[in-house]
Amino acid sequence: MTDLSMQYLGLKLSGPIAVASTPLSESIENVRRMEDAGASAIVLTSLFEEQLALESRTLDEDLSRGTESFPESLDYLPDLGDYRMSQDVYLEHLRRARQAVNIPVIASLNGATQGGWVRMAREMEQAGAQAIELNTYALATDQSQTSAEIEMQILDLVTQVCEAVQVPVAVKLSQSFTSIPHLCARLEHAGARGVSLFNRFYQPDFDIETLEVRPTLHFSTPSELLPRLHWAAILYGHLNADIAITGGVHSAEDVLKAVMAGASVAMMVSALHIHGIDHIARVLVDLRYWLEMREYASLSGTRGCLSRRSVPDTSPYDRGNYIKTLSSYSLRQTVAAF
Ligand SMILES: Cc1cc2nc3c(=O)[nH]c(=O)nc-3n(C[C@H](O)[C@H](O)[C@H](O)COP(=O)(O)O)c2cc1C
Repeated sequence: MTDLSMQYLGLKLSGPIAVASTPLSESIENVRRMEDAGASAIVLTSLFEEQLALESRTLDEDLSRGTESFPESLDYLPDLGDYRMSQDVYLEHLRRARQAVNIPVIASLNGATQGGWVRMAREMEQAGAQAIELNTYALATDQSQTSAEIEMQILDLVTQVCEAVQVPVAVKLSQSFTSIPHLCARLEHAGARGVSLFNRFYQPDFDIETLEVRPTLHFSTPSELLPRLHWAAILYGHLNADIAITGGVHSAEDVLKAVMAGASVAMMVSALHIHGIDHIARVLVDLRYWLEMREYASLSGTRGCLSRRSVPDTSPYDRGNYIKTLSSYSLRQTVAAF
């Protein structure tokens, strides 16, 4: 029987499919169902920096009621009610999730700037988190801020969180950096034990009748896996930090591709929202069948076999791919025309 176990962030995982951060894990019953279906780890829904800032403002306001002193306005933030859980509810949920399952439970801290909220990482650790995923989702909208400043802000934040806790920290990154290998190397230097590729950007859509800009959320499709495979394959072998892939993982084939690119774990969310939590079990059956038909002893033995370091021709990972792809398309078009 093929061994499906993997190692991620120093944690032994029973298999390669973890659940990425999703509101599905806000119910303990779902957390149990994820483990039963074969998930090897669960990243809980995120606790947001803005939410902690708001909670702290609300507390300050309560304490200073009747006086003239109010902290600086945070009016640009959503209401507290827009967030899913308060910090106390989050920590309690984390404790309950830990008790409910034997697989690793990873807490998710979502923020982009340094601040008092970083202490939350320690509280997550005390509540039983076996690792922390730090989601550094940030959008550069200020033209006076340079790329180097943004990266430095993330690195300082990662350093602070890593210093605050003993448990491993993984950083969930966006794809929009000029030099992902350089940034990942520096994140590792700052103490990160893993990188999670990548955040999806949720761009708002425009309603041209009402002239409104509206938040939109579409579930992913497997095509979103390709940039993640590409970067995992480039990073693999050049980092000591582990690689997780999140985005576009829907089938056994997607999981195999993720591992062959160099990922230690493939995370799912959209596929579970679309097909249900039991989808994990079906994907694991397909995965095992595929590996056994080809007599692979272990899944981990295939890790990185299609990475840039392992393939004889690296041009598909470099500029050569761009040129080949474009020219092969125009050739096909020409043939079709005759
Ligand atoms: C409804 C929903 C809620 C999400 N909430 C979070 C969150 O709180 N924190 C986070 O880091 N990612 C969050 N994500 C992103 C997922 O963790 C995941 O990275 C992303 O959906 C890509 O994976 P997929 O293609 O399997 O959906 C959310 C995604 C969805 C669909």
